[in-house]
Amino acid sequence: MSAQTVGDGSGADPEIVLSMRDVSKAYGDGDGRVHALRRVSLDVAAGEMVAVMGTSGSGKSTLLSIAGAMVTPDAGEVTVAGVPIEGASARGRARVRRELVGFVFQDFNLIPALTVIENVALPLDLDGASRATARSEARRALAAVGMRERGKDFPDDLSGGQRQRVAIARAMVGQRRLVLADEPTGALDSVTGDRVLSVLRSMADQGSAVVLVTHDARHAAWADRIVHLADGTILEEARAARPEQLLTGEPR
Ligand SMILES: Nc1ncnc2c1ncn2[C@@H]1O[C@H](COP(=O)(O)OP(=O)(O)OP(=O)(O)O)[C@@H](O)[C@H]1O
Ligand SMILES: [Mg+2]
Repeated sequence: MSAQTVGDGSGADPEIVLSMRDVSKAYGDGDGRVHALRRVSLDVAAGEMVAVMGTSGSGKSTLLSIAGAMVTPDAGEVTVAGVPIEGASARGRARVRRELVGFVFQDFNLIPALTVIENVALPLDLDGASRATARSEARRALAAVGMRERGKDFPDDLSGGQRQRVAIARAMVGQRRLVLADEPTGALDSVTGDRVLSVLRSMADQGSAVVLVTHDARHAAWADRIVHLADGTILEEARAARPEQLLTGEPR
């Protein structure tokens, strides 16, 4: 029911990083069967930030989990940076997750045995970056979320909101092609929440495709587009007015 196109129709479209075509997913069977997603199609381009909104149970986290190759859809096609997910082996999907996707999930845990800076540097270590590069990028990411001073601490020494910020820093390193954030500001105070939003925004501005699940219309306004999910279906899509554009009158 919903065909989305990306771009403003003014010629060369930017590269599509996430492409989801007629994606469906159901959980359980018989009377308990829940259709979490029904033929959802969504394209997100490099440099674009899309906010996904919808009531609890509307399928937002399912959409992100499929986009991030963590959950396999029952039907439909998904590609990330041109790599098809649905035909890929478990190993191929793990590789997509590790190399192409940055995750900021509610339950995406830090590794308790590693310090904060080691947690943040981990994706770069896995990429094969030098230790010095990994450390300095991790320090930069921690500074961006206001956690520069906590690099030597362990996750257990931090509050929930601080852990969330570290998880965000980890998703920021390595300039992932696709960044997926599931209510990343839920546990944060409003100042830190705004900071996280501006970090996500700048990741998009630097060329990542960003998908943000949020209940907060103020945060959704930072996105280029807002997608409304209801009962596993995309109801409508709107272009968002970015706050700074409203302030400066900058044309969209
Ligand atoms: N692993 C699972 N097993 C069974 N049902 C599931 C599973 N994951 C999700 N569901 C069901 O699929 C539907 C969509 O769930 P989903 O988590 O995607 O919603 P959501 O929009 O993220 O909700 P919330 O705002 O509460 O996080 C819900 O009815 C949920 O109960
Ligand atoms: Mg959810």
